[in-house]
Amino acid sequence: MGRLDSKVAVVTGAGRGIGRATAIRFAEEGAMVVVNDLDPEPADETAQAIKEAGGEAMVSTENTVELDAARRLMDGATAAFGKLDILVNNAGITRDRTFHNMDDDVWDFVLDVNLRTAFHSTLAAMPHLRGAAKKEMTEQGAPAYHRKVTFTTSTAALTGNAGQANYTAAKGALIALTRTLARELGPFHINVNAVAPGFIETRLTEAKQEGSDLGVPEPIRQMALMLIALGRYGRPEDVANAHLFLASEEADFISGVVLPVAGGQLGA
Ligand SMILES: NC(=O)c1ccc[n+]([C@@H]2O[C@H](COP(=O)([O-])OP(=O)(O)OC[C@H]3O[C@@H](n4cnc5c(N)ncnc54)[C@H](O)[C@@H]3O)[C@@H](O)[C@H]2O)c1
Repeated sequence: MGRLDSKVAVVTGAGRGIGRATAIRFAEEGAMVVVNDLDPEPADETAQAIKEAGGEAMVSTENTVELDAARRLMDGATAAFGKLDILVNNAGITRDRTFHNMDDDVWDFVLDVNLRTAFHSTLAAMPHLRGAAKKEMTEQGAPAYHRKVTFTTSTAALTGNAGQANYTAAKGALIALTRTLARELGPFHINVNAVAPGFIETRLTEAKQEGSDLGVPEPIRQMALMLIALGRYGRPEDVANAHLFLASEEADFISGVVLPVAGGQLGA
């Protein structure tokens, strides 16, 4: 028995890092997974890993910054697997710079990838999640089971983080969105929660290379480690397990929470 047997899940940004680990973990627990990522190669690798382990997966390279693309993603998921039960909003990006160096382009890009993708993906999922629940309420008096939406915020939005005004603005908005949608969608038994990863080892947090848009300067990496009570950086699988718990039946009475996955990081 898997914890997500017969469930259909869409995971955005599932080609790398936390999204990949989440897609693989969900499939291990019996879910059919739509692996969504802008980049086809890593997305294919994730889907391949799932299939080689005996699971079911399909790839979508839709960029949900556009609403039409989000609709194609969700409609494609239900066309392939018959329904949609779980949406993991994980796609995200950083473009760190001090606030006085911020411009509209870098602000909009980070807000788009972190916040607008989540807005559009969740909106496009509504006919499949809310619509399906509403039909069951009409026909049977109640939704047949709980459907799940998770967002991916960051401990940086809880504590603040110098150099991440754009990122923390987006991630903070996701916390507010989580709480509001939990209230609005609760009557339809759609649970809405967020995970707040701390410092997780992925390409976003690797030692910054000269000229790279991503990464964290090594002295900051060392400082971050000192703040983590459990004494190590997080792994993508640590966050995947939190998404899994919130998506599983074990969390059917949990909605509107922000779950830090941060190893006891100071302040988070
Ligand atoms: N790594 C950390 O320490 C950390 C901490 C807090 C929050 N997060 C959040 O966790 C999530 C995953 O981060 P990660 O560290 O695994 O990053 P990552 O860069 O390893 O993976 C993110 C994936 O998202 C994809 N992506 C980017 N834009 C996309 C779009 N518009 N549509 C679909 N896919 C898109 C990328 O191609 C990439 O494969 C992000 O939301 C990030 O902000 C990460």
